[in-house]
Amino acid sequence: MRLGAVLSALRPALPLLLGLSLGCSLSLLRASWSHGAAEERCLAPGPPAPPARGAPPEAAEGRPGPGHEDFRPRIVPYYRDPNKPYKKVLRTRYIQTELGFHERLFVAVLTSKATLNTLAVAVNKTVAHHFPRLLYFTGLRSAKVPHGMVLVAHGDERPIWLMYETMNYIHQHFGSDYDWFYIMQDDTYAQAEQVKALVTHLSINQDVYLGRAEEFIGGDEQARYCHGGFGYLLSRSLLLKLHPHLDSCRNEILSVRPDEWLGRCIIDFLGITCVSQLQGQHYHTYELAKNTELEKEEEEDFQAALAVHPVSDMTLMYRLHKQFSRIQLDRVYQEIQDLQMQIRNLTALTPAGEAGVTWPVGINAPFLPKSRFEVISWDYFTEQHLFSCPDGSPKCELSGASKADVSEIIESAVEQLNRLYQPLLRFSKRQLLNGYRRFDPTRGMEYTLDLLLEAATQKGHSHVLAKRVSLVRPLSKVEIIPMPYVTVQDLDFVANFLDMFAMNTLDTHDNALLTLLFIYHPYDAQRVGQVDVFAGVKAMVGELEKRYAEVKIPWISVKTEVPSQVKLMDIVSKKHPVDTLFFLASVWTEINMEFLNRCRMNTISNWQVFFPVHFQEFNPALVYRGEQTASSSTDFLRDGHFDRHSFAEACFYNSDYMTARTKLAADILDRDEVLENMEVFDVFLHYSGLHVFRAVEPGLVQKYTLRSCNPRLSEELYHRCVLSNLEGLASRSHLAMALFEQEQANST
Ligand SMILES: *[C@@H]1O[C@H](CO)[C@@H](O)[C@H](O)[C@H]1NC(C)=O
Ligand SMILES: *[C@@H]1O[C@H](CO)[C@@H](O)[C@H](O)[C@H]1NC(C)=O
Repeated sequence: MRLGAVLSALRPALPLLLGLSLGCSLSLLRASWSHGAAEERCLAPGPPAPPARGAPPEAAEGRPGPGHEDFRPRIVPYYRDPNKPYKKVLRTRYIQTELGFHERLFVAVLTSKATLNTLAVAVNKTVAHHFPRLLYFTGLRSAKVPHGMVLVAHGDERPIWLMYETMNYIHQHFGSDYDWFYIMQDDTYAQAEQVKALVTHLSINQDVYLGRAEEFIGGDEQARYCHGGFGYLLSRSLLLKLHPHLDSCRNEILSVRPDEWLGRCIIDFLGITCVSQLQGQHYHTYELAKNTELEKEEEEDFQAALAVHPVSDMTLMYRLHKQFSRIQLDRVYQEIQDLQMQIRNLTALTPAGEAGVTWPVGINAPFLPKSRFEVISWDYFTEQHLFSCPDGSPKCELSGASKADVSEIIESAVEQLNRLYQPLLRFSKRQLLNGYRRFDPTRGMEYTLDLLLEAATQKGHSHVLAKRVSLVRPLSKVEIIPMPYVTVQDLDFVANFLDMFAMNTLDTHDNALLTLLFIYHPYDAQRVGQVDVFAGVKAMVGELEKRYAEVKIPWISVKTEVPSQVKLMDIVSKKHPVDTLFFLASVWTEINMEFLNRCRMNTISNWQVFFPVHFQEFNPALVYRGEQTASSSTDFLRDGHFDRHSFAEACFYNSDYMTARTKLAADILDRDEVLENMEVFDVFLHYSGLHVFRAVEPGLVQKYTLRSCNPRLSEELYHRCVLSNLEGLASRSHLAMALFEQEQANST
């Protein structure tokens, strides 16, 4: 009777119970080889409450199956309480964080005090830069930690302890950030790129324990652990499940080898054994015999290996690295050849036919100009001289990088010729007759060389002949320069001010007013001292300050005959805290929020300053010639150009400016007139080690204006100013049209 009551109460849950007990017995079957209480093991993966009594959802979640969708990106909604005052939402900088993506691979290298300065350094030099995140774990640390290596010391040399602490550490600090964890030793040589590739081929919602599977000494026949010397891979899900059991493992499992201990722990508590092959991916390894001659190691096993062990010393590590790099390089060259062949074969089938193959195969075809203004011109050079010089003079000495470039390109041409005609002919260079080069932004540097060569036959006859060769130095992988991350807290007085400003610009009613606000800008500040030219502006500022009670817009009046940017900057600099982020602009500048954000992101204290190239609109009188102004706010980037001559806009931190300025002062001593020839740009370029970042900035638009160029500035600055004015008038076609119309008007 009582049983009946219980059953009827449980009826709805019956399928579930059946499923659970079936699951239990199945896993019992699978786990029968390992020792320990089977019951405990079956319950272990779930939450503390036994599944029979526990709430079904929990029990279901205990074993994440294929339906477990933890890895899916999630969109975190922003909730705004209408009752609370509006606070600016802090958005994460990267979409990745916002969507909850994980980083892919974390690498841990187990090392020791004795080998930290030898083997671990060799690991660092050969593979570290290939992995996005790599940490070294040791028991005791030595007094000197090698430069640039992140070391975690647990304070105890016992290997098991090291493994236990390492697992704990990884779980605690990286468990929620990475999908994969690769554990290796400092006597492992790992093929970093291959390990990375392996990880991209595995699906992440599985418990993975992948490495070189080894039998336990005197153990059961099916259980395997991953040999630590060859490295192994753990998935995030496995690490998360393993973590609660680590303490028990430390107390219960006795082992001398840390890899065995970990393997035992994973088997006993999770029932997962090490595999060498998963989802079609093999974990190839190679065991080094004593005194192996690496250079002769051409076996397939060796070539395919992801990890090699044991590496006894640093030299061996470097030799291994050289050998594997060579193998990798050969593979890449082979692959390039195959791809080129495929492209050739396929191009024959396209409408263009064989003629469609461009040289070199696989690299973008040369740029075809659509009008005569787009033609990329060739620069002429000889072995000694360049005939298009940076300073505009007709001829200059070939030196530095250009010289190295030319000699390398000639060398390479002769080498290629020799390879092509070997063994029949041998070429040697007599002289470069003519050289032409141009930079094609769609493909790279192109060269055409007329070479005077001496060709020698096998029999020793020789003959001098001229040959024309073409070469391309293609643009290869685009490099991403690593940048430190700008934190939001760094924002200071001016940035806050700009922030407010940006928020206000969103409000279209205030747009016209706000664009006039940069009155403390150096260029115009000089005129404040005379009659009150700026009285109107000051009144406007006052009004604005009244309207926005919390906004304070200070101005600085400076009187100077020569408005040198540096001198003015000196004054501004002194009046602000060192951590101020400056944005220099002129009154014609139209700023938007997007640009201010980029200004903030691109300027990094003690690292980088930002000199945007603004977009200068053309003179509307010339461009539209009385017609209706076509430009609306949406396509504002149409009638104008990026003004490369202007260095007036800049974003930088006051502290950086002051540092560079101090250096400058030491350099020029009392010769203050030098300052008049300088812009802030020059100060940073010559007197700071910072990155000077210059880029076109579509967010920074200047209305057309004819600037007055002050002849008291240095010749170069004046020249640049005039040039900028001229080029800012209108495009060639607009000017031509204007001329044409004028002539017609005159002739009638
Ligand atoms: C270790 O590697 C990092 C990253 O590649 C590098 O910055 C650092 O200088 C290296 N340190 C040593 C001692 O090789
Ligand atoms: C390209 O075509 C040639 C001959 O037509 C053939 O021998 C070769 O295998 C083909 N290569 C590829 C990659 O398709």
